[in-house]
Amino acid sequence: MAHVIMPGALATIAVFSITFVAIWKFILHRRRPLNYPPAVPGWPVIGNLFQLKEKKPYLTFTKWAEVYGPIYSIRLGTSVMVVLNSAEVAKEALVSKFSSISTRKLSKALTTLTCNKSIVAMSDYGEYHKMVKRYVINSILGPNAQKRYRHHRDAMIENVVNILSSKIKEEYCSLVELREPFQSELFHLALKQSLGKDVESVYVEELGVTFTKKEIFQILVVDPMMGAIEVDWRDFFPYLRWVPNKRMEMKIQQMAMRKRAVTKALIEEQKKRFSHGESLSCYLEYLLSEESNLTEEQLIALVWESIIESSDTTLVTTEWAMYELAKNPKCQDRLFQEIEEICRSEKLTEEHLQLLPYLNAVFHETLRIHSPVPIIPPRHVHEDTQLGGYHIPAGTDITVNLYACNMDKKDWEKPEEWNPERFLSDKYEQMDMHKTMNFGAGKRVCAGSLQAMLISCSAIGRLIQEFQWKLKDGEEENIDTVQLTTHKRYPMKAYITPRNQAA
Ligand code: HEM
Repeated sequence: MAHVIMPGALATIAVFSITFVAIWKFILHRRRPLNYPPAVPGWPVIGNLFQLKEKKPYLTFTKWAEVYGPIYSIRLGTSVMVVLNSAEVAKEALVSKFSSISTRKLSKALTTLTCNKSIVAMSDYGEYHKMVKRYVINSILGPNAQKRYRHHRDAMIENVVNILSSKIKEEYCSLVELREPFQSELFHLALKQSLGKDVESVYVEELGVTFTKKEIFQILVVDPMMGAIEVDWRDFFPYLRWVPNKRMEMKIQQMAMRKRAVTKALIEEQKKRFSHGESLSCYLEYLLSEESNLTEEQLIALVWESIIESSDTTLVTTEWAMYELAKNPKCQDRLFQEIEEICRSEKLTEEHLQLLPYLNAVFHETLRIHSPVPIIPPRHVHEDTQLGGYHIPAGTDITVNLYACNMDKKDWEKPEEWNPERFLSDKYEQMDMHKTMNFGAGKRVCAGSLQAMLISCSAIGRLIQEFQWKLKDGEEENIDTVQLTTHKRYPMKAYITPRNQAA
């Protein structure tokens, strides 16, 4: 009999327990309802997608922060994204809550372009990421590695100065654009550091075409930067993945295929040199020695990453800094005086940088106001967590709006003004790279900040030491930006006068 009654009794206890737990949870929730971040009102189904039509979402995010506060949520089709707009809450996400927010959320375009998250910057945190970050730091970007590439940086900066000098002599015109020579010299440096050699052209067997250096730059740097901001509406509606979007797919696949083919051809050429016993001391040589841990696709993706990352944000920062200095003669004079006092008749070099606090302040203030990476690529929350006192459930995407952190009135007085003097206060350590959040924070902090600072500060210093800069009339208003990083839409045009001729 007992074995007949027992199942009934067990069932009663089970039902009772489940009901009890359900009631208890209900009471708990009623007492302490989960506190979600405020939501920006949007449309049914599409959420806030229409409000983000233009390709500068950081500006819209910043406007919303004025209404909804430093942390709020938006809906992009089926996914919920929490946007962080203050340094305090950004640090909480990037540093203290990192273990709950460590994976990357990439668009389909970025997944294709990064060869399924094979590059350091877009890989998910884990063994692969730790390994390849160690590779890039040990071989090119860490302090010791940077010493080995010093001669490339010195040569690059002197070349830019010489090109500008010759240009104004030969053309009897002092109006110049810094972009062209700087971009091309920076690309030489990126190739030398990544492949050991600069190249004038490359024959790509897969495509049966020889590409010039300009075309290589277009394929490896410009096209992927544009592709990275392409939006495939199916990213926001995964249940509609089956609907074809051929034009978009073809465009991104073409881009990815061409950049892969060109990088592969460049690698093959260098491999031949290595096999003839030539040692080129570069990232590729280092990666080949570690090849057993990498697939061919990963190797190609990593070499491409080092080329594109070296070629872009440093140019963006340096051009904006020169724009600001050319626009603000008082700041330019102050910087020139500082350089004169420290360098006297010597050419400014990297050794002088730690003795030049105003130059350092110009660099950080330019990063603050022109945020080269205005939005950190989104992360995915994989377990429930808390941010800024709000509950953030697993499955949410997170993005950090660095532009808004840099414009936050709580942290910065008159944030819209370019004012390097703000970084001269005792609050800041001169050589601290993280006066702003521009290089990120925590375990995914930028690996190339030292290189960016060394090139940008030495270049700004040398360009001011050598020439007096004055913006062309009408240039003040040219502040529009394009691309993923905040490139100046129109290259800066300025008049330069060699210092030895300046009044
Ligand atoms: C002014 C110039 C630069 C700025 C503002 C900048 C900014 C950033 C930011 C915001 C991140 C993302 C951090 C995160 O996800 O939390 C990042 C990551 C990264 N950056 Fe930079 N960057 C600059 C220059 C460079 C250069 C010159 C290189 C290499 C040549 C480089 C290599 C990397 C790498 C490899 C990562 C990935 C780090 C990781 O995921 O662990 N960056 N950078």
